[in-house]
Amino acid sequence: MSKKKINAAVLVSGGGTNLQALIDAQKSGIIKSAKIKLVISNKPDAYALTRAKNAKIKTAVITKDEYKTAENAEKAMIKTLEENNIDLIVLAGFLSILSEKFTKKYGRRIINVHPSLIPSFCGKGYYGLKVHEEALKKGVKVTGATTHFVNEIPDGGEIIMQKAVKVYESDTPEKLQKRVMKQAEWKILPLSVEKIAKEMTENGGKQ
Ligand code: GAR
Repeated sequence: MSKKKINAAVLVSGGGTNLQALIDAQKSGIIKSAKIKLVISNKPDAYALTRAKNAKIKTAVITKDEYKTAENAEKAMIKTLEENNIDLIVLAGFLSILSEKFTKKYGRRIINVHPSLIPSFCGKGYYGLKVHEEALKKGVKVTGATTHFVNEIPDGGEIIMQKAVKVYESDTPEKLQKRVMKQAEWKILPLSVEKIAKEMTENGGKQ
C-alpha cells in the first residue's frame, strides 16, 4: 500500500533556522511527500521551539537532565516518536549523538544536515561554529554542507546531497556559517527530505 505523505519529526537543539527552512519548504510545496508532525528539542530554551509553535507544529522537550541518563531520554524519545506515528526523523541542528541502538532501530530513516563537505571537518566534536573555525584554520577555499543518513558513526552515514560554498579571505567563522546555511543547508535539507520522503511514499512508508 502506498502512502501519500509520510510523517516527519524534526529534532533540534538551537536556533532552528534549518527547521524554519523545512517549514517554509512545506508551505511553498518543495516538500510535498512529508508532513512535519512533531518537533523534539533536547534543550527547553531552544528558539526552534518558538518557530514550531508559530507554525502550529506539536512540540516535545526531552532532556537528559529530566530523564537522568541518555539511554532513558532516548527511550522517552522513541515512545514519543511511536505515539506520533513518525516515519522519518530529521536532525536539524540536533547537537546530541544518538546511540547505536537508536540509529539501528531507524536505519535509513534518520537524516542529518552537517555544515561541511563530509568527510572534511566532521565527526565527534565537530558541530556548529567549530566546524567553520576549523575550515578557516585549515585555509580551505571551498566548504559547504552535506545531508546524510545517520548511522552509529558520527557523520558517517551514506551521503544524500552536498553543496559547495566559497570561502573568502575576509571570512570569520560567523560570516562563513551564515553563508553555508543560506547557500547550502537551507536548500539541500528540504530537497533531501522531499527526496527520501518521496521514496518512502512509493515504498509504503519504508526506506
Ligand atoms: C547548523 O549549521 C547545522 O548544520 C549544525 O548546527 C547548526 C544549527 O543551526 N549542525 C551540526 O553541526 C551537526 N553536526 P539551526 O539550529 O539554526 O538550524
